[in-house]
Amino acid sequence: MSVGKNTAHDAGPLHVTGAARYTDDIPTPRGTLHLAFGLSTVAKADILGMNLDDVRSAQGVVDVLSAADLPHDNDVSPSNHDEPLLADGTVHYLGQPLFIVVATSHLAARKAAQLAKVDYAEQTPILTIDDAMAANSRFEDGPRIYTKGDADTYLAKAAHRVQGSFEIGGQEHFYLEGHAALAVPQEGGDMVIHASSQHPTEIQHKVAEALGRPMNAVRVEVRRMGGGFGGKESQGNALCVACAVVADKHGHAVKMRYDRDDDMIITGKRHEFRVDYDVGFDEHGRIAAVDFTHYVRCGWAQDLSLPVADRAMLHADNAYNLEHARITSHRLKTNTQSNTAFRGFGGPQGVIGIERVIDHIADVLGMDALDVRRENFYASADSDTTQTTPYGMEVTDSIIQELVDELVLSSEYHTRRQAVAEWNEKNPVLKRGIALTPVKFGISFTLTHLNQAGALVHVYQDGSIHLNHGGTEMGQGLFTKVAQVAAQSFGVPLDMVKITATDTGKVPNTSATAASSGSDLNGMAVLNACETIKARIAAHLSDGEVKFDGGMVLFDGQKLSFSEAAAKAYENRISLSATGFYATPDVQWDRIKGHGRPFFYFAYGAAVTEVVIDTLTGENRILRTDILHDCGRSLNPALDIGQIEGGYVQGAGWLTTEELVWDTKGNLKTHAPSTYKIPTASDRPEVFNVVLWDGENRADTVFKSKAVGEPPFMHGISAWLALSNAIAACGDAYPDLDAPATPERILMACQKQRA
Ligand code: MTE
Ligand code: MOS
Repeated sequence: MSVGKNTAHDAGPLHVTGAARYTDDIPTPRGTLHLAFGLSTVAKADILGMNLDDVRSAQGVVDVLSAADLPHDNDVSPSNHDEPLLADGTVHYLGQPLFIVVATSHLAARKAAQLAKVDYAEQTPILTIDDAMAANSRFEDGPRIYTKGDADTYLAKAAHRVQGSFEIGGQEHFYLEGHAALAVPQEGGDMVIHASSQHPTEIQHKVAEALGRPMNAVRVEVRRMGGGFGGKESQGNALCVACAVVADKHGHAVKMRYDRDDDMIITGKRHEFRVDYDVGFDEHGRIAAVDFTHYVRCGWAQDLSLPVADRAMLHADNAYNLEHARITSHRLKTNTQSNTAFRGFGGPQGVIGIERVIDHIADVLGMDALDVRRENFYASADSDTTQTTPYGMEVTDSIIQELVDELVLSSEYHTRRQAVAEWNEKNPVLKRGIALTPVKFGISFTLTHLNQAGALVHVYQDGSIHLNHGGTEMGQGLFTKVAQVAAQSFGVPLDMVKITATDTGKVPNTSATAASSGSDLNGMAVLNACETIKARIAAHLSDGEVKFDGGMVLFDGQKLSFSEAAAKAYENRISLSATGFYATPDVQWDRIKGHGRPFFYFAYGAAVTEVVIDTLTGENRILRTDILHDCGRSLNPALDIGQIEGGYVQGAGWLTTEELVWDTKGNLKTHAPSTYKIPTASDRPEVFNVVLWDGENRADTVFKSKAVGEPPFMHGISAWLALSNAIAACGDAYPDLDAPATPERILMACQKQRA
C-alpha cells in the first residue's frame, strides 16, 4: 500500500540540505541578462513625461523598455485585459511598474531603476473602502446580491436583533521564495520559461500574447515553488512576460527576481473586507434571518477579485443552515496593489462574518457560543433532513455535528471553559479566552470549466515509471501524494516512480494549482493514465484477471515482477505510455444568479483555541489548540497534518500579528519582515493537538480522500474569537474587535471594556 502512508515529502532532504533547485538556482547560460522594474512613486497620476537618460547611462545597463517599446499586447491580467505590464500613460497605484531596466547583473538593474525622473500630474487616490464607496469606484455596475427566503420580513419579526460591523485586514503571502522567472530563447523564435508559478498554462498564454506567437511556441516549466499560497496564481505573469519580451529582443537568456520589498510593494495580497451584519434570532440563538454586506477592497485591476468576492459570499453561511439570508457584495476599485488569490480565496472573509455574528448572538443571550453554533448547524448527512445553502446547493454530506461533538470531548472544552472563567475571576491583569469554531469549505473551482486535469505517465522497459501531471508543487506535498497514487495503482514501491517538473509541453491546458483541488484533480487524471497502461499490459498477458500487487504482476497462476512485465510488454510492441484526464462531475454554477452546485463536496473541521492576554499591554499567547479535521480517507496523514498545522498558524497570523499599513498617499509602509510580522515557530500554540477525522469522502474522489490545502486556514478564526472572549472578560460590552487583533487593538479594546 502506498496510499494512506505517512510518506515524507519527496523533496524534504533537498529542502533541508539546500539542494532543492528553485527558479533562481537554475544554472543560467553565458550572457544572461537581468531585469528590474522602475516603479511609480505616486498612487494616482497621469504621466507627463519620463526622463530615463540616467537609467540608460548607468553602469551595466543594456536597454530600457517602456510601454511603447512592447512589440505586442501590453497586458498581464489573468481575467479582464485591464492590467498593463508597464503603465500606459496613467499610474494606478504606488509601486506600479513603469519601465524595465535590462542590465548585466541583478544589482545593476535595481540600482539603475532608481535613477528615473518621472513627471506626474498627481490626482487624489482612492485608497480606502470609504473612499471607493463615496466615489462609486467599483468593478461591475453595482453590488452582487445573493438571496434566500425573505430576510427583511424575518429580521423584522425576530424576537432579538443585533447589528454590527467590523474590519478585516488583508494579508501578504510571504512565500519564502519571492517571485522569479527565467526566459531562455530557442531557435525559430520559440521560448522556454522557468517560473515560480502556480499556473504554468497562464504564463504560457500571456507570454504567447506578448510575443505575438501561438501558445505552441512557448513552453513553461515549474519544478517547485518555495510557497505560493495563491500569490503565484496570477502575480508571476509580469516577470515572465518581461523576461520573454527582452529575451526575444536581445537573443539572450533573461532572468528576473523581485527583491522582498519590491515583491511586497508590487504584488497583490488578500482582499481587505468590511463586513456589516444585521441578524434576527430567537431566545435559543437560532438565527431567523441574516443580512450581510461585504465591502471588498480589490485594488486597481480586476485580477481574480470577482471570483474571490463570490467565494466570500458562498461561505457566508459556513456550517450553518440559514433559512432567510441576503448577502450583498461591493467589489471596490482602489489605487492600491491589485488584490489576488490567497489561501481560502475569499472563503475566510465570508466565514469570519458568520462566526462573529454567532459570537455576538451568544453575548447578547449570555450563552456559550458553542450552544448557539449547535443550534444552527446544518443537519447531519445521516439524518433525513434536506437543507440548502443560501445559493441553492443541497448539503448532503455534513458531519459537522458529530465532528464537533468529538472535538468537544477530546479538547475537554467544557472543563476548560469553566477553568477559564475561574481564572478570570481571580486574575485582574491576565485574562484567558477560549473559542471553538467550525469550518465547512466548498471544494471545486467555482468557474466550472477549470475543474479538469491531465496527466502523462510513461513506463520504461526496465519498469521504472515517469510521472507527470498538470499540478504544481509549492510545498503542499502534491507531488508526493500523486506519486503515491501512481505507485498504488501499479502496485509497485514508491521509489519506482520518478516525479518530474510541471511542463506545458507534457500536459497542456491545465488549471492553476488552486482551490485545494490539486490532488483531487491530478490524482484522478494520473489514476486514469495508470489504468490505461495496466489494461494494455493485462490484455496481452491473459484473458483472465490480472493483478498488480507487491511489485508483481499476477495472472493465470503465474507471476512476473513489474519490471519483467514491462519488458515483456515492450517486446510485444505494447504502448507503455498514456495520457490521463479527469473532469469533476456534477458541478454547475451561475455566478450572476448565485444559484447552482458550485462544489463537488464540502470539507469539514473544527478548532478550539485557548489564549491568554495581558490587559495592560495587549500582549498575548496561544496556549493550546485542538483541531479535528476531515481529509476523508487521507492519502498521506503526515502531509495532511502538516497542511492543517500550517494552515492554522497562517490563519491565526492573518488575524493577529500580520498588519498591512498604507499611509495617506497610498504608500505601503509594511513591506519587509522588519515591519510586517508573520508568525514564527515560537508563535505556534504551546500545546497543539491535530487529529484527522476518521471517515471517507462520500463523493467519489481519488481513494475517497478530501482536499486539505485551504480549509484548515479558517481554524485560525478560533484564535481571533478566543482573544475576543478574553477581552470580553474585562467588562460587560461586546468587544468591538477588528482584525487583525494586534496587541495595540487588544489593549484598546480592553480599555474600552473597562471604561
Ligand atoms: N502549503 C504550502 N506548504 N505552500 C503553499 O504555497 N498553498 C495553499 C495550500 N497549501 C500552499 C500550501 C493553497 S492557497 C492552495 S490552493 C493549496 O495548497 C494548493 O495545493 P493543493 O490543491 O495541492 O492542495
Ligand atoms: Mo489557493 S488561494 O486557491 O492558490
